[in-house]
Amino acid sequence: MISQNMDQDILKVVFSEQKLHEKIAELGAQITEDYKDAKEDIYCVGILKGAAVFYTDLVRAIKLPVNFDFMIASSYGNGTTTSGTVKILKDLDYDIEGKHLIVIEDIIDSGTTMHYLTKYFQQRRPKSVKLCALLSKPSRRTAHVDIDYCGFEVPDEFLVGYGLDYAEKYRNLPYIGILKPEVYAE
Ligand code: IMP
Ligand code: MG
Repeated sequence: MISQNMDQDILKVVFSEQKLHEKIAELGAQITEDYKDAKEDIYCVGILKGAAVFYTDLVRAIKLPVNFDFMIASSYGNGTTTSGTVKILKDLDYDIEGKHLIVIEDIIDSGTTMHYLTKYFQQRRPKSVKLCALLSKPSRRTAHVDIDYCGFEVPDEFLVGYGLDYAEKYRNLPYIGILKPEVYAE
């Protein structure tokens, strides 16, 4: 059961609002520095829905003109199809040829989704592609992904909040935490 007071379902807060805020300021400053001389347009591509909350905070920490774009991708999991099969449910709105792409993702887990998307972006001949992920679970990786800007490495635990969901809930928690096991046991 999901409580009316979502805080009660959290076993432990892993990253507080303050800690997330500090890290995002750091990532934004680094990206601003790295792209300050860029001549071509910069496209910030958010991967929905998980990256929505991180995206809106991060873009405001980037002190350069950027364009917004979003994708929705879903990866088929758990053996029914070959792992590595990713379906694009919403494509980019813009032609990114010759542009700088900053892909913004909540978490890189197995790497399946981003490994596929990276190849997909390359086919569209952007000037450059970099990946900014708030979280990474390196112990779970099965597909290779280069993360250019990584917020935090995390152990193999199921996290919710700040965009991350369990059964589509908890995305609006302002912090990231570990869900109590009894929430899964219905
Ligand atoms: P992968 O890297 O293709 O395995 O998939 C990454 C996606 O799985 C992320 O974008 C999330 O939507 C989801 N995901 C992975 N780990 C977690 C977690 O701990 N909590 C919530 N969603 C997760
Ligand atoms: Mg996601």
